[in-house]
Amino acid sequence: MLVTGKQILDHAHENNYAVGAFNVNNMEQVQAIIQAAEETQSPVIMQASQGALKYAGVEYISAMVKTAAENSSVPVALHLDHGTDFKQIVKCIRNGFTSVMIDASKMPLEGNIDTTKKIVEIAHAAGVSVEAEIGKIGGTEDDITVDERDATFTDPEEAVKLVNETGLDSLAIAVGTAHGVYKGEPKLDFDRIVTIKEKLNIPLVLHGSSGVPEESIKKAVERGINKINIDTDIRMAFNEAIRDFVKNDPDAYDPRKIVGPARDAMKEVIKEKMTMFGSAGKAWK
Ligand code: G3H
Ligand code: ZN
Repeated sequence: MLVTGKQILDHAHENNYAVGAFNVNNMEQVQAIIQAAEETQSPVIMQASQGALKYAGVEYISAMVKTAAENSSVPVALHLDHGTDFKQIVKCIRNGFTSVMIDASKMPLEGNIDTTKKIVEIAHAAGVSVEAEIGKIGGTEDDITVDERDATFTDPEEAVKLVNETGLDSLAIAVGTAHGVYKGEPKLDFDRIVTIKEKLNIPLVLHGSSGVPEESIKKAVERGINKINIDTDIRMAFNEAIRDFVKNDPDAYDPRKIVGPARDAMKEVIKEKMTMFGSAGKAWK
């Protein structure tokens, strides 16, 4: 069933667990995610970046995710990941997205507040939830890059201001993770998560979560993270399965035979994440 981002994240916040938000670009990813959610009885967020919308088209992404959600009993939200463009955000809302992210984190605080406020006003009028971001998460997510030297952790007082002045529903915070593949082991600032959670008492979001060790993920969830974004780990599972298949059967030409095993490989990775995040068994009717 299709629900709003707020319904999913408020439930996670009230029950102290995190929901996986998995990036989608094609049908196999949508199917892998919904099958994993059903097999673990987990609420789930399927999200599309601006790059994914450019690649597949907003109508295709929306139709695929809505089809998956409507044919399933687990709660599913359709979310725009790292929205930076007003028109694109409105297009998503008009196409049935139940949640959008406005990423104005590159702006100074006042600009971030003004931009987020404007999106909250139109999204809430349409019954759509809003995630915003404060602090700068390093690395590259599709068309958004933040150089490691420019990455900055979230200031808790600035976070309070952004939440109070905009009425957003969930907040992405920078606490030591980065988008893409890690060179070394990420060091998370767990105390900062605790401080921000105590001050805000709303659902918190962790970006750049692929490759973060299980122990760190669990500690982050215990301290108040309720949405965990995963893109790179799914891409890796997809690539590895396709490469293996083609290596073993270089003459294969049926796309279903080549891509089918990749769908299964992605599903297994997603199921592991759902269990790790504590969302398994938390689906409600
Ligand atoms: O917004 C998407 C996620 O933050 C992706 O992070 O590159 O670690 O999978 P990832
Ligand atoms: Zn991200």
